Amino acid sequence: MEQLIVDGKVCDLENVCDCLTVTDLDPCIIVIFGASGDLATRKLMPALFRMWINNSLPDPVAIVGCARTAFSRSEFISRIKKECLICASVSEAQWLEFSSRLYYFRLEYDSEQTFVQLKNYLKDLDREKDTQGNLLFDLAVPPHLYSVIAENIGQSGITRQFPKESSWCRLVVEKPFGSDLHTSRELDKSLHLHFTEQQIFRIDHYLAKETVQNILMLRFANAIFEPLWNRSYIDYVGIIAAEKIGIENRAGYYEKSGVIRDMFQNHMLQLLSLIAMEPPSHFEADRVRDEKLKLFRSIRPFNGRNGEVILGQYESGTIDSKPVPGYHEENGVANDSLTPTFALLRFSIDNWRWQGVPFYLVSGKRLKRKETRIVIQFKEVPHSLFRDVLNESVVANRLILSIYPEEGITLSFQTKSPGAKVCLRTMNMNFSYQESYKGVSLEAYEKVLLDCIVGDHMLFWRQDGVEEAWSLLTPLLHSCESCENRAQQLYSYPAGSWGPSAASEFVEKIIS
Ligand code: BG6
Repeated sequence: MEQLIVDGKVCDLENVCDCLTVTDLDPCIIVIFGASGDLATRKLMPALFRMWINNSLPDPVAIVGCARTAFSRSEFISRIKKECLICASVSEAQWLEFSSRLYYFRLEYDSEQTFVQLKNYLKDLDREKDTQGNLLFDLAVPPHLYSVIAENIGQSGITRQFPKESSWCRLVVEKPFGSDLHTSRELDKSLHLHFTEQQIFRIDHYLAKETVQNILMLRFANAIFEPLWNRSYIDYVGIIAAEKIGIENRAGYYEKSGVIRDMFQNHMLQLLSLIAMEPPSHFEADRVRDEKLKLFRSIRPFNGRNGEVILGQYESGTIDSKPVPGYHEENGVANDSLTPTFALLRFSIDNWRWQGVPFYLVSGKRLKRKETRIVIQFKEVPHSLFRDVLNESVVANRLILSIYPEEGITLSFQTKSPGAKVCLRTMNMNFSYQESYKGVSLEAYEKVLLDCIVGDHMLFWRQDGVEEAWSLLTPLLHSCESCENRAQQLYSYPAGSWGPSAASEFVEKIIS
């Protein structure tokens, strides 16, 4: 087999790691709504292309892009070719082989009639390609179209034309799943008119990151951590997703969303649940999601206690020696906008394991650098026999799960410095994904799409979890958005800093 270059690495497909992908995938048609948009062009299509390179697409497979734009099939293909070839260079013959699986169908999202045409189109394609009636619908469209499309798929009878017993039909949706508890229930109701919970896959791309998936392995495939994983040994947990970028071209979305809806209701709460949940009885999607749900239910509601919530918004500043505008100067942002771009939330978990252990979750835009990590800060030793000689306390152990830029795990511990005097120094035990695994790995979207094809819900939100997350955050959002002194509660911070001064000291503690 010829070699391919993926992300600059030579990918010899005969030597791809056995764990990279699964085999015996059901043939299927993957229908991508919003195919002319950014998400489909920049993420989904390149992910499908890399899956093809890694042999993790079913065979046969057909990929149908659907959108309002009047592309011909070849226009559609040449548009995505550019993006696909950024992540992997292949010969023209290989590209032709991949692109022979691509199709384009123009439709109007709100026209049932065009969905009836789509139904006939898919039926013919299924017959021609022998995809056995299996359909994966991916809604890469703005959220207000989710219900309309799901309803038109159902009404047009697309899903009913293939025998239920031998074929499957799945629906993939991206966040936001509503903008509060009420709207998330409304959305869910409309999806459930034609799809069962088993057919719905709600993506959280954080769950598909290798290091995030590794949290459960670290905790439950090792005997040494779990006995310490509780209030007796852990002082606090810090979870940070700091971003250097601002809101880019997404003011329309971000102005209504803000950091709590954008990052906390989904990614941050997923990270929290993986760190804090009880061990599930089996490594199986619903058993894991049951435990996450239990954990969400034990989070104490916010009640305005001191320091529980710190919100911020960036002002102009400097990042990497370059000046960057403040939030108010971004295109499409109102001059008097009070949308938070930074939050530090202190969560308390009311159960036996975690009583009294604070969980600090921090996320913000335009911070000093992009860094995503989870810090498990252990307590100091209960009695220091070194205190007479050291004249200082012994630094407590710390476990860091790094998600970005490095992917890995670091455990810090105390050792003796060489020499006659008694001096302690902190050393690290390091595991780095990059150093220990040189092979090709799956990008988040590849993993997510693969799991949808397999039908595994492990990395996807279940509706009860979504609602529990909204139940927790909706009162907080409403109180932040309707309180009289809203402006006073929003601290500003210069772009390129670690957030508002009320929070930056703590942020530096978990980032250092
Ligand atoms: C998205 C948010 O879900 O996650 C973005 O909408 C954010 O605002 C992004 O930038 C962060 O993802 P990552 O993988 O870059 O940490």
